[in-house]
Amino acid sequence: MANEWFETVAIAKERARKRLPRSVYGAIIGGAEAGVSLKDNLSAFDEIGIRPVTAGQPAERSLDTTIMGQHSSMPVMISPTGVQAVHPDGEEAVARATAARGVPMGLSSFGSKPIESVIEGNPQLFFQIYWAGDRESMSARMERAKAAGAVGLILTLDWSFSHGRDWGSPEIPQQIDLQTAIKNAPDVLTRPRWLYDWLKRRELPDLGVPNFGQLGDPVPGFFEAYGTWMGTPPPTWENVASLAEEWDGHFMVKGIGRGDQARAAVDSGATAISVSNHGGNNIDSSPAPIRVLPEVVDAVGGKVEIMLDGGIRRGSDVVKARAMGANAVMIGRAYLWGLAANGQAGVENVLDILRGGIDATMLGLGKGSIDELSYDDVIIPADFSPPRIS
Ligand SMILES: Cc1cc2nc3c(=O)[nH]c(=O)nc-3n(C[C@H](O)[C@H](O)[C@H](O)COP(=O)(O)O)c2cc1C
Repeated sequence: MANEWFETVAIAKERARKRLPRSVYGAIIGGAEAGVSLKDNLSAFDEIGIRPVTAGQPAERSLDTTIMGQHSSMPVMISPTGVQAVHPDGEEAVARATAARGVPMGLSSFGSKPIESVIEGNPQLFFQIYWAGDRESMSARMERAKAAGAVGLILTLDWSFSHGRDWGSPEIPQQIDLQTAIKNAPDVLTRPRWLYDWLKRRELPDLGVPNFGQLGDPVPGFFEAYGTWMGTPPPTWENVASLAEEWDGHFMVKGIGRGDQARAAVDSGATAISVSNHGGNNIDSSPAPIRVLPEVVDAVGGKVEIMLDGGIRRGSDVVKARAMGANAVMIGRAYLWGLAANGQAGVENVLDILRGGIDATMLGLGKGSIDELSYDDVIIPADFSPPRIS
């Protein structure tokens, strides 16, 4: 059998492209509209330089940290993604991989596996919700997550229902029945290894979102849940505060793109925020999170934990974010490509790549611990960040 190990996230992406049906792969890579934000998420990291030392580096480096009360073996956790059909083991494989590597995981309310089974794989689980449906249903989703043992809640607020993509959105069927199987046959049959993975478990991907509903009830379909969400008026900061109060534990607001919004989230009871533009899937032309990180650190640094997600592909990206004031980062596409390429082992492979890259960059910088990283370790171009909004 071919060696499934890969040495960079870019290679995992290429493996995923070859393995997944075009529509499934398209759903992972796509950014919104022209993909300006998606590209910026990556190129912004390339603009940041690092300042290496030449001798006197520590022989051992410590990457350990704490993320929202959870020990983590490095400043990285899994960002919640609601993506179906990448691999039949889905989030259960991601949970086992992250537990094996000692990092926490976020699980989406649009994920494909129920929280009760995912948390068996990794108890360091944060559950993610959107402001979707009536308030009672949100409470029910939070209660279910609490009862399952979730260690914190992630409230994602940046989705703006921007649906156009210049390269065309992949068609997502309502459900996979005989008719859709035949219709998608040309796409699926060219990917026999992906199909075999499903068939050997006697399954076909179903597009249910079990965490959106209640245990014991029929599993809502993706489009039904998405419709409910789309029809829900956006929340006020008072609404956010009511969720934080009700959750009464580690509470992250994900999707922060400005200092003033970070402050509002903190005032509403967030104990952590994620600087994020939803991986460039959202309102196009929103800047890369790493560009707005300094503004957010100025606004709320020290008051709450600051996470960053968007464009993390290498360990050096993690080091850059940490040097610029993020406590830790969350990864999205990187682990989805690993999952597509090689299931649980592929996710472990991606985490190992990041760990190796963080360690190598710290060695180059002469740092013995990630706590020693600071602005002095990076070179940031003068026009790197957008003008500050007070
Ligand atoms: C296919 C896909 C599905 C996503 N689904 C969700 C979701 O359900 N909830 C959420 O908070 N973020 C979701 N995100 C955003 C990720 O959590 C994260 O913000 C983003 O992927 C980070 O950028 P990266 O992919 O460059 O690492 C999704 C992202 C992708 C690519």
